[in-house]
Amino acid sequence: MSGVLPDDELWVLSYYRASELAGALLFGRLARRTSDGELSIFLTEHFAEEARHAWLWTSLIRELGHVPVRITETYQSHYSREIGIPATIAEVLLLTRVFEERIYCHFVRHLERPETHALVKATLKTMLEDERGHLEWVGERLARYEAEGMTFLPALGEKYREIDRRIYAEALECESRLWDFLGMKP
Ligand SMILES: [Fe+2]
Ligand SMILES: [Fe+2]
Repeated sequence: MSGVLPDDELWVLSYYRASELAGALLFGRLARRTSDGELSIFLTEHFAEEARHAWLWTSLIRELGHVPVRITETYQSHYSREIGIPATIAEVLLLTRVFEERIYCHFVRHLERPETHALVKATLKTMLEDERGHLEWVGERLARYEAEGMTFLPALGEKYREIDRRIYAEALECESRLWDFLGMKP
């Protein structure tokens, strides 16, 4: 297959796809497991949107004449290495907020690059709209948990942000050779 994307951009889009798949699987698992009926609605919607995002990246990669690069490492797996697996739903949502804020800023950055392909830009805009909705429901839930007594959440959120800043700086350094950040061979 001969496509229009340079290697580095194909890797970046494949990486986005892998992270959306990981997000969808995580939220799907949470949606199955929770006994909180109202929460299960948000989790299921979140799962469905991340799965749709994974498909949008996949179909875009195909439309541009490529197949996705198989990427086993995700941005979230860097979190897991540093933070471990969050034990409670509040911690998962807190980390999700840090992640979604990061993705939001990063997608805006990608969108503003003059060399970004018009179809990639259109897909990024769709993602940004959905991510705003994700940040909204997650933020509301976290505010509720905090009001109900989880006063440790803001400090923990700061700790997560600090870790995220470090991971992101590392990722940016390798942006044009993502395979180095992921410890993979192009
Ligand atoms: Fe997404
Ligand atoms: Fe999201």
